[in-house]
Amino acid sequence: MIIAATTDFREAARRRLPPFLFHYIDGGAYAEHTLRHNVSDLSQVELRQRVLRDVADLTLDTELFGTKLAMPVVLAPVGLTGMYARRGEVQAARAAAVKGVPFTLSTVSVCAIKEVQDASSAPIWFQLYVLKDRGFMRDALERAQAAGVTTLVFTVDMPVPGARYRDAHSGMSGPNAAFRRMVQAATHPRWAWDVGLHGRPHDLGNISTYRGTPTKLEDYIGWLGANFDPSIAWRDLEWIRDMWKGSIVIKGILDPDDAQDAVRFGADGIVVSNHGGRQLDGVLSTVRALPPIADKVKGQIRILVDSGIRSGLDVVRMLALGADATLIGRAFIYALAAGGEAGVTKLLSLFEAEMRVAMALTGVRSIAEIDRSALVRGDVAL
Ligand code: FNR
Ligand code: LAC
Repeated sequence: MIIAATTDFREAARRRLPPFLFHYIDGGAYAEHTLRHNVSDLSQVELRQRVLRDVADLTLDTELFGTKLAMPVVLAPVGLTGMYARRGEVQAARAAAVKGVPFTLSTVSVCAIKEVQDASSAPIWFQLYVLKDRGFMRDALERAQAAGVTTLVFTVDMPVPGARYRDAHSGMSGPNAAFRRMVQAATHPRWAWDVGLHGRPHDLGNISTYRGTPTKLEDYIGWLGANFDPSIAWRDLEWIRDMWKGSIVIKGILDPDDAQDAVRFGADGIVVSNHGGRQLDGVLSTVRALPPIADKVKGQIRILVDSGIRSGLDVVRMLALGADATLIGRAFIYALAAGGEAGVTKLLSLFEAEMRVAMALTGVRSIAEIDRSALVRGDVAL
């Protein structure tokens, strides 16, 4: 099939993956209103076309936490990435390094930190969840530091997992899930060969390393609910700040007051995020949450944003509304499932090309020049 845009990668991923995995990636919480609004609200932000402004020399590079990025795009942490392609975290990290952007490894990845960092020619970022077992967190931070990770993404919007009803229907969870997954694997032979057979071991690499025994994936959703800690509060983050030597980015901020608290806490960055519409359905789309947050904390902390970004045009829209950089989740995961490392490389090239066109036709030459004047309505009256 012809692959020319993120939607094509999504379709290729849908064909290749067993449904329980495709729907786990593609779905969101409850009625999926926020998931849809992330995408549709973003599409309504109108870019302001400008002409005859000599845009022969465009540069997309930018700087974040002391490192140069080829463009303001970061691969978001995505759990179970090694189930969508063979040793998927390694393949995605390699593609990111080649394209000059960071890859973020999830706490609940299949490949452990060391396996991924050893395979990547650039430092990866590491995402940490608040687990009830603080010994695990300490161990993970030490391993990340030893592997050379410089940026820690601390995710705070999952004290409890939001209900994803698709998972119950697809066989990801629910009755007879293991049997249904086996049948699905048998009817998706390309995936079964590549990942089912040759992508082993299938477990939560970071957690198995710590516990010394494999963490099985039979009841992954149940595992998240049982091990995540709902008692988390700002005071619990202090020991992490004291222990971690690199940059700290707080992921899952949707409110200007929380953004202000992140500044007060001393974080280096925030990710304005609703977890891709996977947590509380009914909350604001991130494109609507971003402008008031930028009004409050821009310049005091680096502002990253994710949820709903499907193209380089969307990246430019988010930058125009006040973000310094963006994270992409599903867009690169569809590409990984569809075509492994080459798929992610192609997706990143696509984003780059789309950004170039958006910048040329809004008349800006560098990332720093992108602001609300690149939009028809700078006040985003959505
Ligand atoms: C996620 N996300 C996520 N975030 C995180 O901090 N740790 C994680 O382990 C995961 N796992 C995860 C799995 C899957 C399948 C998806 C789709 C997402 C959220 C992710 O980092 C990011 O916030 C969203 O994916 C952004 O929205 P888009 O780009 O997918 O619309
Ligand atoms: C998810 C978790 C793992 O969104 O972050 O499924």
